Amino acid sequence: MDVKALVSRMTLEEKAGLCSGDDFWHTKAVERLGIPRVMVSDGPHGLRKQDEAADHLGINDSIKAVCFPAASATAASFDPDMIREMGEELGDSCQHEKLSVVLGPAVNIKRSPLCGRNFEYFSEDPYLAGKMCTAMIQGVQSRNVGTSIKHFALNSQEHRRMSSSSDADERTMREIYFPPFEMAVKEAQPWTVMCSYNRINGVYASENPWLLTEVLRKEWGFEGYVMSDWGAVSDRVAGVAAGLDLEMPSSGGVNDRKIVAAVKAGKLDEKLVDQACERILNITFRYLENAKPDTPWDKEKQHARAAEIAADCMVLLKNEKKVLPISKRAGVAFIGEFAEKPRFQGGGSSHINCFRTTGALEAARAAGLKVTYAPGYSVEKDSLTPSRLRKAVEAAKAAKVAVVFAGLPDSYESEGYDRTNMRMPECQNRLIEAVAEANPNTVVVLHNGSPVEMPWIGKVKAVLEAYLGGQAVGEAAVRVLFGDVNPSGHLPETFPLKLEDNPSYLYYGGEGNRTEYREGVFVGYRYYDKKKMDVLFPFGHGLSYTTFAWSDLKLSRKGIKDTDTLKVTAVVTNTGKRAGKAVAQLYVGDVESTPLRPLRELKGFQKVFLKPGESKKVAFTLDKRSFAYWNEEIHDWHVETGAFTIEVGDSSRNLPLKAEVQVESTVELPRHYTPDSIYLDIMADPKAKKIMTDYMHQAMEIFGHEENSDGTTEAAKEAISEDMTLAMMKYMPLRGSLSFGGGADSEKQMEELLKLLNNP
Ligand code: BGC
Repeated sequence: MDVKALVSRMTLEEKAGLCSGDDFWHTKAVERLGIPRVMVSDGPHGLRKQDEAADHLGINDSIKAVCFPAASATAASFDPDMIREMGEELGDSCQHEKLSVVLGPAVNIKRSPLCGRNFEYFSEDPYLAGKMCTAMIQGVQSRNVGTSIKHFALNSQEHRRMSSSSDADERTMREIYFPPFEMAVKEAQPWTVMCSYNRINGVYASENPWLLTEVLRKEWGFEGYVMSDWGAVSDRVAGVAAGLDLEMPSSGGVNDRKIVAAVKAGKLDEKLVDQACERILNITFRYLENAKPDTPWDKEKQHARAAEIAADCMVLLKNEKKVLPISKRAGVAFIGEFAEKPRFQGGGSSHINCFRTTGALEAARAAGLKVTYAPGYSVEKDSLTPSRLRKAVEAAKAAKVAVVFAGLPDSYESEGYDRTNMRMPECQNRLIEAVAEANPNTVVVLHNGSPVEMPWIGKVKAVLEAYLGGQAVGEAAVRVLFGDVNPSGHLPETFPLKLEDNPSYLYYGGEGNRTEYREGVFVGYRYYDKKKMDVLFPFGHGLSYTTFAWSDLKLSRKGIKDTDTLKVTAVVTNTGKRAGKAVAQLYVGDVESTPLRPLRELKGFQKVFLKPGESKKVAFTLDKRSFAYWNEEIHDWHVETGAFTIEVGDSSRNLPLKAEVQVESTVELPRHYTPDSIYLDIMADPKAKKIMTDYMHQAMEIFGHEENSDGTTEAAKEAISEDMTLAMMKYMPLRGSLSFGGGADSEKQMEELLKLLNNP
């Protein structure tokens, strides 16, 4: 389709009209020119296709569909290939349902455990979130259906989500909040991007030219169209100019008319409207020309796949005395309403109308396992009646193993509002304590999208984090609990001991309409590690029913330039008696740095299947970006010359392999030495240091440290050593030699020195 030619035949009114939705889920048709309307639909871990009574908060029903695990769970798999396949399944379902774009994945960073939408988001780590969302986008789009990576950007809270400004410095945005979007755009080219509701440093994302044009298109090369989140438009004309192509759902024509008026008044270049239309139509026709509505949608097959995926996402957090896996012959009590009706998805626009759900109780009974059941707490209200408590304790006492299914009820985490604390309902905590007292083999299975406090952690033998594992989560839990599947999930986020430990604790939610991201790049483990803080479970942690050993860390070179790549290999061995999957994680740290940097950052991971006794090599390629920080002066990634640590292991706090590589920068940062520059900074710059050597002699003389002919110094007679003088001098500005040297150096000399220092 010659989209340019088509747009040239449209009237200004038709073009402005095309820049907003026809209704809740459709773009507009221009029948006279043969442009049909196409449908977009929520997800992203299943389809939420609504035909009638549309709403974007998940209140009204949609078609029956399959709910796969939410992003909080899939991230824990550390398995991009698996999530790519999940994306392919989704893409097929979209083709079947005639959907041009599925609205997701949602990739905002889990800045605080409190964000109501954390269950939809992948991680506190931008690299992991980036790899997982990229794979998912590749999977969906391989079926010629678009994705809409969302919510661009800095939408890490629900509190005041439509008005609040997320205020962060450039480095924080570039290093923490942008990379998932950047990676996806560069490696998977999502067909569309959804801009967020919030403002960024005061400017709404939907009218932010820096965000939508400079960064997204010019820097990263985004080729698709940008749509607004539902109702995220404030100033539509500014939006068109900034690069917001499609307003969703619509403004009933009000904003379309504003676009027309602005063009007529010469306030908006018509070319920008043409451009938006071209971008929208490119994607529309890309879908239409590849539409395959006869693609089958086998929901049963997808349900089975959803169970396999969910099992591979579960994280075994604790397993004392090998209480798990449970013998299939043992008498087991399942306790807690979630055993019957699991919590497997979150509330809001991603809410799927499942064609079937399987709870663990049903799955265990279907598998012929001996399981008794007591509901214990009530999900509806935070209550535990004495009779329910008694029955739960009796069931626990009568069983070999007691499994409590617990976590956060729907009302605790949802789109639209945040949590106010990190606690589970009191009734559940009380139940777990009572059951653990009644049965020494108590296991807790958790259903939650984000960390919770675990006051009972010392009293239970095992904890299995199931996250929000999709409609087949019950089957998956049973497989893992009874050992048919060896757990291999790892935490995509830190579980702090308490909410107050979280780095954003003081600032999260902000003041009025302003939320400052003051913890900067120190999000999640970047903070806990730097502070050497105890945490409940660290980022990357996950146990297995087997054991792994790590060896043979090898770097392809001892030193590289920042333009080179470095190959890193290591060997992982299954030292236990069961087959299992290990997750190799590679972290990089700058040994000494001018900017404040985290101790380590995830820069590679790989999931490997190993039979008992088997060893496999894992390989990583590191490049400039693996070592770089964002330099705000040059507005670019920069690597400081020096040593970097490379650590490999299977959690951010279990890294048995460590080596160092020397990286040399090929970029000279601009120099701005002035009379106020201090010796410390100048001497840290190798080129300036050379120039300074002569000058230093003069300076030392001023402090009486220049050697006499007999090798003694004047100050040696006093109690100030040369080291002390140097230590004191490092904070001395250049102009100090003028002040303290009685004008020994003329200003002219200083000027010449500065010229040399700034252009070495
Ligand atoms: C959500 C989006 C969603 C849209 C359409 C908004 O409220 O923030 O994630 O795609 O509604 O339902």
